[in-house]
Amino acid sequence: MTIRYGLAGMKAIVTGAASGIGLATAARLRVEGADVFGVDIAGDGGVLGIDVSAPGASEAIIAAALAQLGGLDILVCNAGISAYMALEGHDDAAWDNTLAINLTAVFRLVRAALPLLKASHQPRIITIGSVMSSYGDAGMAAYAASKHGVLGLTRSLATELGPFGITANCVMPGAVLTGITAPAFAANPEFETYWREKSPLKRIATPADIASVIAFLASDDARFVSGHGIHVDGAATAHP
Ligand SMILES: NC(=O)c1ccc[n+]([C@@H]2O[C@H](COP(=O)([O-])OP(=O)(O)OC[C@H]3O[C@@H](n4cnc5c(N)ncnc54)[C@H](O)[C@@H]3O)[C@@H](O)[C@H]2O)c1
Repeated sequence: MTIRYGLAGMKAIVTGAASGIGLATAARLRVEGADVFGVDIAGDGGVLGIDVSAPGASEAIIAAALAQLGGLDILVCNAGISAYMALEGHDDAAWDNTLAINLTAVFRLVRAALPLLKASHQPRIITIGSVMSSYGDAGMAAYAASKHGVLGLTRSLATELGPFGITANCVMPGAVLTGITAPAFAANPEFETYWREKSPLKRIATPADIASVIAFLASDDARFVSGHGIHVDGAATAHP
């Protein structure tokens, strides 16, 4: 990986840091010089093991991050779940859990992080939406609703927190080969083919493709980019 954005001295939280996009983002931010505090329900020695949707989790994450980092500049709300769920038989618990992890936990973590972000000289909120922040699909009712919500939340954060110098943007990937998609691709190879062929670049994204956009948004180069949802999908959704 190449150092492009020079995040030396910046302090970051990345949720969902044990796998996929979060793992690549933590690695990229470290290459750029940032101190990174990782959070994941699949905690190990390297990350704080916590369910972001658990009661009190946001406050616990911020307290632990503050103790380790001594401040906070970059908040990357990335932890998320996805599963195909047809509407018939779609139980309330699956709906509630998807919204709790993908949307409500983001709201709570941002709220808990605000005092630290307000004290930063380069404060950044980066949420992870999806092309499902702009579109829907069969079996994606809860996921698409949560990701539309994340985009709306992010635009509102950018508006409300801009006066404090805080930028907020939503990175919206297409299909990325990660822990979320690998089982689906293995079970349905045509699903992978669909996404690869839908991109004029004719490939599935790698987690590093997404992490590089996150690194840019965290940087001083992105200082006047705020309130946006940014598709990172190889133009898969630029055409019908
Ligand atoms: N992979 C894709 O194609 C794709 C496309 C668009 C958006 N996204 C989004 O990217 C984000 C990262 O997903 P990924 O593709 O890297 O998948 P992934 O499964 O590889 O990584 C997600 C990580 O989040 C963690 N996590 C899940 N629930 C959690 C919880 N309750 N508390 C704490 N950690 C939790 C998991 O343990 C995992 O390490 C998600 O928000 C996802 O919706 C992914």
